[in-house]
Amino acid sequence: MAFQESARVKSVEKIAHNTFQVFLESPQISKSVSPGQFINILPSDEWDRVMRRPMSVSGAEGSDIGIIFKAVGSGTDAMRDWSIDEEVDLVGPLGNSWSISDKVPVLIGGGVGIAPTWFLHNELLAKGVDHYLIMGSRTANEHFIEHAPKEKLIMCTDDGSFGISGNVIAGLDTIREDLALSEAKLFVCGPAPMMEAVREVAVSEKIDCEIALETLMACGFGICQGCTMEYVSNGSSADTYRNKFGLVCMDGPVFKAEEIKTCYL
Ligand SMILES: Cc1cc2nc3c(=O)[nH]c(=O)nc-3n(C[C@H](O)[C@H](O)[C@H](O)COP(=O)(O)OP(=O)(O)OC[C@H]3O[C@@H](n4cnc5c(N)ncnc54)[C@H](O)[C@@H]3O)c2cc1C
Ligand code: FES
Repeated sequence: MAFQESARVKSVEKIAHNTFQVFLESPQISKSVSPGQFINILPSDEWDRVMRRPMSVSGAEGSDIGIIFKAVGSGTDAMRDWSIDEEVDLVGPLGNSWSISDKVPVLIGGGVGIAPTWFLHNELLAKGVDHYLIMGSRTANEHFIEHAPKEKLIMCTDDGSFGISGNVIAGLDTIREDLALSEAKLFVCGPAPMMEAVREVAVSEKIDCEIALETLMACGFGICQGCTMEYVSNGSSADTYRNKFGLVCMDGPVFKAEEIKTCYL
């Protein structure tokens, strides 16, 4: 069930290059949100755009929820400038969530996909579930977590300035000696090229994998049909529109790797 809630801004902090973490007092949403789900935010009362801005939830504790975002345009710039105690209009939680199995969780995040991965990481820590966290970025100043392979925290940078040199696939390769990936379940969210690279590995090696897709969104709850993704054809002669296309906001954002045709949306 989703709520429309006036949430109070409790803190705004810059945690990495152009990356901000905000905690909001949002008692109804915090009670019911799970990792992978998102909220739709009205960035400001004076917002002159029609559409809210979707953001994954990065954590929920007590009455509070967290979000982590990059400031990339007018909506996220307004969010970065929120002041303490400001009231913000939220709708959520929206979409589905990741599902844990008895396989070893391997969380893979990058860019704007940090938030849901961070939520799941902290939930698994709280439950005492052994898991790996792999985070990718272009360069060192985009990271806010330590690189500690012995603690299964694996940071990667494209330019080699921090952690493993290379993308998250290089990070994934470093754990293969410890863990047969057939025993793992991957949970992935990040930029499209990153998700697509992991999807290809997961599908070709038949690794259990769930991907939280991102696309431009408008309504956030199934009305505008603006957030379509394409399913891999199941070869059925009843290839209806609904069999062929899913809505990221309603059917996702989490999909199994093998049902996604491409992460480029
Ligand atoms: C389900 C979901 C969860 C998301 N979670 C997060 C999150 O946790 N943290 C975060 O930083 N961002 C997240 N995003 C992306 C975020 O919604 C956009 O960055 C935001 O809407 C941009 O709004 P803006 O007004 O600041 O920028 P705009 O002025 O609207 O756009 C600025 C630039 O950002 C690009 N952009 C806009 N929306 C998206 C998008 N959805 N994906 C990629 N690029 C986009 C535009 O093409 C443009 O180049 C999520 C998106 C979805 C669909
Ligand atoms: S965003 Fe409107 S249908 Fe998904």
